[in-house]
Amino acid sequence: MKAYYDRRAPEYDDWWLGQGLYEDRERPGWEAELRRLEGVLRDLPPVRTLDVACGTGFLTRHLRGEVVGLDASERMLEIARRQAPNARFEQGDALSLPFEDDAFDRVFTSYFYCHLDDDQRNRFLAEASRVAPELVVVASIRGDGDDFERWEERRLNDGSEWNVYKRVFEGPDLAAELGGEIAFKGRWFVVVQA
Ligand SMILES: C[S@@+](CC[C@H](N)C(=O)[O-])C[C@H]1O[C@@H](n2cnc3c(N)ncnc32)[C@H](O)[C@@H]1O
Repeated sequence: MKAYYDRRAPEYDDWWLGQGLYEDRERPGWEAELRRLEGVLRDLPPVRTLDVACGTGFLTRHLRGEVVGLDASERMLEIARRQAPNARFEQGDALSLPFEDDAFDRVFTSYFYCHLDDDQRNRFLAEASRVAPELVVVASIRGDGDDFERWEERRLNDGSEWNVYKRVFEGPDLAAELGGEIAFKGRWFVVVQA
């Protein structure tokens, strides 16, 4: 996953914006729901927040308070530093967070938890609760007929092909797994606060 996202960094936001390879993808209501998601993030109380696997900072820029973004990919972080100039960014591993116990008030993570297998999800949850008492997770919602767990075949602009593990949720199952509550649920995104 790390190598794939590092290569994908310059074209990553095309997915959020429905551009490039994603231009023809049918996603009814996506843009309006994205605006609502951004509003939910802006409404979170401003506290010391660690955005784990922050990517290009596309959502990081909507988090308020003292915000640190962490990602494995330096190419993602280069973009994030431009896109979210109010946050500080560091390279590191989400499964072994380079921070002291209780260094933050909240761990935030978007579209990362759904790429972890069972063992990795447990490791991530242990690390998140070590560094902060609160966890907010953004994930995609399973579409009709989609498998909960799958390996997706993905292609990048340079023609390279990758297999990426994806575990999707329906909302209540994610809330139960995290021991939290659904803060927002639409057709595309779910936000759980634990
Ligand atoms: C699907 S992207 C999500 C990016 C961003 N959170 C968003 O919602 O736009 C997944 C991100 O996880 C990062 N990543 C993958 N494995 C990682 C790890 N072990 N530690 C930290 N970041 C990792 C990738 O570099 C990539 O930026």
